[in-house]
Amino acid sequence: MSTPTPFRWLRRPGPHTPPGTTAVAVGATDAYAPSGLSYGADYNPDQWPREVWDEDVRLMREAGVTVVSLAIFSWARIQPTEHTWDFAWLDEIMDLLHANGITVDLATATASPPPWLTTKHPEILPQTRTGETLWPGARQQWRPTSPIFRSHALHLVERMAERYGDHPALVAWHVSNELGCHNVDDFSDDAAAAFRAWLRERYTTLDALNDAWGTAFWSQRYSAWEQILPPRLAASHPNPTQQLDFKRFSSDALRQYLRAEAAILRRMTPDVPVTTNFMVMGETKGMDYAAWADELDFVSNDHYVLPGPQALDELSFSANLTGGIARHKPWFLMEHSTSAVNWQPVNVAKKPGELARDSLTHVAHGADAVCYFQWRQSAAGAEKYHSGMLPHAGERSRLFRDVVALGGTLRDLAPVAGSEQKPARAAIVFDWDSWWTSELDSHPTDRLRYRQEALDWYSAFLALGVRADVVPTATDLAGYDVVVAPVLHVVPTDLRDRLTAFVEGGGHLVTTYFSGVVDQDDHAWLGGYPGALRDLLGIRVEEFAPLLDGESATVELAGEQLEGTLWTEPVDVVDPDVEVLGWYKTGEQAGRAAVTRRTVRSGDSAGSAAYVSTRFGRLGLVPVLARLLDDAGVRSELPAAVRGDVELAVRTDGTDDFWFLVNRTARPVEVPDVAGDVLAGRRLAPSGTAGTPGTPGTPGTPGDGVLLLEPRGVAVVRRPAEPTPPR
Ligand code: GLA
Repeated sequence: MSTPTPFRWLRRPGPHTPPGTTAVAVGATDAYAPSGLSYGADYNPDQWPREVWDEDVRLMREAGVTVVSLAIFSWARIQPTEHTWDFAWLDEIMDLLHANGITVDLATATASPPPWLTTKHPEILPQTRTGETLWPGARQQWRPTSPIFRSHALHLVERMAERYGDHPALVAWHVSNELGCHNVDDFSDDAAAAFRAWLRERYTTLDALNDAWGTAFWSQRYSAWEQILPPRLAASHPNPTQQLDFKRFSSDALRQYLRAEAAILRRMTPDVPVTTNFMVMGETKGMDYAAWADELDFVSNDHYVLPGPQALDELSFSANLTGGIARHKPWFLMEHSTSAVNWQPVNVAKKPGELARDSLTHVAHGADAVCYFQWRQSAAGAEKYHSGMLPHAGERSRLFRDVVALGGTLRDLAPVAGSEQKPARAAIVFDWDSWWTSELDSHPTDRLRYRQEALDWYSAFLALGVRADVVPTATDLAGYDVVVAPVLHVVPTDLRDRLTAFVEGGGHLVTTYFSGVVDQDDHAWLGGYPGALRDLLGIRVEEFAPLLDGESATVELAGEQLEGTLWTEPVDVVDPDVEVLGWYKTGEQAGRAAVTRRTVRSGDSAGSAAYVSTRFGRLGLVPVLARLLDDAGVRSELPAAVRGDVELAVRTDGTDDFWFLVNRTARPVEVPDVAGDVLAGRRLAPSGTAGTPGTPGTPGTPGDGVLLLEPRGVAVVRRPAEPTPPR
């Protein structure tokens, strides 16, 4: 049996900072400073008889589990009726975990209201845009804006804080669970009332709202606030700005709810950090997490692999964006899966090596905790076919052996804890307003997928072996050499000015079709597309020319013939400093510019603004990006032989850099010329004989011989830190 890695939480600064801990600088994530990587899972002991708990903690210790998230769905057990409370079982398991050196990220238990509450108050149930009620029987059956739900839930939060605020196992509060997963889009009367209040706050006067929403169109002008509704099922296309504002409001409503729980916890237990688990993954788009991060003491994320050709790219993209949301401080991987999930059409088991590779890819992008849903696979309920750390098969299983092995690897990686993502020279900008707005209805095409476009650019970076940070729009871009902002649809004046300053400061901006087209109210910038970015790009487009399914246009770029789909445009070059990098060869735009770049000289610096007017997809973007990066002087840090097969992600603590090399293939890959101490993985050859297979080394072997990456394997190498350019 192994001893769990000791896990130290730094308490929040302030009057209640306990003696012996260090007050740290402010920032959304600075409260968390562990002494090793954490390892664990959601733990649902209330699904099991008492005798199982002893086996749980024995096996947790064997696996090296250091932290569990407890009581997430336990409201009905803790408060079985409105006036009865049962904490005894929770007291017992908290004590048992503590006695075994396992810390607790304790849920406020508010995620799923008990049947007595929804029976007494069915008016807390959410409603869809078509007016259907989401009934109890699953989970998260509550309106984010319901005052009744809020008063019951906040009372529970108080009871939890009161009872467990001083418990020695408690290391963090876990507010609710995946806020908005099933209930972000609530169109109920409570939502309508709260939406009106939110709009009053935003616009102050009805005239301002009428202007912003363009209500002169289709006789929509409002003469009283009470007339305003959520964008419920309507006879035709609902007002687009109403839709956009409702998305903003719905995200904000949950954020306000998060803030309400957090306020109680901070008042009652000011030295315990507060988090909640985000869902930065796939098409989960209702919550503007870049804004939410400010509510937390450290960012947590849940991620599940989505099958398909970009599964691993998407995992890396999401982890990378989570780091961007956490402002590149360490974050907490609160949930992912050891193997299959239960909620996809076909739930594929992970192949050998994938369990560790997926987890370590998150660590590579800044996760200091590796946690799963869930510890013990359920025997009953909707998630009984969802994998856990301890499967139905029990401890005598490959899966549990892999879990134990990963626990050992995480202990070897303890020096990585607390280090930050090292800035790359390139970044991809990710913008919630553009995501929400570019995919609204009544547009030139309904085929556009914002996140997919961003992911395709990221895939191209991975294929070229060039690191790129994925960052929210508000991030200071000044330190980057290249910034790619795909489908940056919403460009208010201040964002246009920031991008212009970036380019005038010598930065290289790349943007695409359907960018710069509207302002913050979803009103078109006039005078020609790409609207707000027209002057910066030095081009003008009079009319969009989207393509039908099955249509494509050939573009010649750098001697290659590429296929553009989805979108084309008649691009007019209007600035003499614009160079045409790619030409349409077929279709309506044949003979016109498809990819352009304007050079912008300012003082000593020469920046540029490039435009890609069609969709090339993840493979077609590779030569496009290669050309743009090459001209900007941004190169891969990986040996040429392994680019595309291996992802490099780098963390740094200022003294050391930690290179994570992720084998993206199912075969062994040898990586030459990576100097440094091997913390995970192994070398093949001693220093000076790189490329010659030799005796396998062991973790911790210094030198610069060939690194062997096992199939789907990850190596981690510690090297003296290279200077970090200012971000
Ligand atoms: C989410 C939830 C968990 C569980 C998993 C299953 O992450 O937070 O409770 O339902 O999904 O993948």
